[in-house]
Amino acid sequence: MQRVYIYKGFERFWHWLQASLIMFLSITGFEVHGSYTIFGFEKAVEYHRVASWMLIGLIFLAIFWHLTTGEWKQYIPTTKKLKEQIMYYMSGIFKGEPHPTEKTGLSKLNPLQRLVYLGFKLLLVPITIISGILYMLYKTFDQNNIIVIEDYPLEAIAFWHTLGAILLMIFLVIHVYMTTTGKTPTSNIQAMITGWEEIDEEHQEHNDENEKKSEKK
Ligand code: HEM
Repeated sequence: MQRVYIYKGFERFWHWLQASLIMFLSITGFEVHGSYTIFGFEKAVEYHRVASWMLIGLIFLAIFWHLTTGEWKQYIPTTKKLKEQIMYYMSGIFKGEPHPTEKTGLSKLNPLQRLVYLGFKLLLVPITIISGILYMLYKTFDQNNIIVIEDYPLEAIAFWHTLGAILLMIFLVIHVYMTTTGKTPTSNIQAMITGWEEIDEEHQEHNDENEKKSEKK
């Protein structure tokens, strides 16, 4: 076994802050929705707005980091071993079969993760954030008549925003379950805290070689 540095400092900071903000936004958001009372409506609205600006700022930082470090390439979708990965989660995992793919510093996401995280970044988060911004600016647009958005009913914006929020909550539950399916139930979570993970040496060298080859192509 070899200790490999998988998640860099910024990545870990971004991951945990994004997770905390999304959880806080769902707690305050569903209070605004009227599902329960924790902070009181006025405070929930205020906290939701502050946290949403923090999330927007964090996402801009993360985009900048992914582009400047080239880490965005980790999310390029691939069908190689995708079927094996799906079959593993559906059956192999329950029979104690080995993981079909190994994590390495150069390729930290398996083919299923690449697809799911890309969908999360390109669909789910944008739907929730864009509808959230429209929700926030709705009255301003309405009063000033700058943009003809008043024709678009607020209920429709709220619908997309709530749908995005519910899907994000579903994502979160599945995501947390998936994190427990590593070498040990806590190895993936530990890696996202410390950055380091114990990885099979043989696989590590083999996979990194393959990654370098495909990068050269
Ligand atoms: C940057 C992202 C976001 C922005 C700009 C945003 C903005 C808003 C705004 C303006 C409202 C109306 C209440 C208010 O005036 O504060 C709202 C409601 C809500 N938000 Fe967000 N939000 C964001 C992210 C999220 C996330 C990540 C979740 C949950 C995962 C969420 C869940 C909700 C829910 C459930 C409501 C109530 C919808 C309703 O019933 O009308 N929001 N959001």
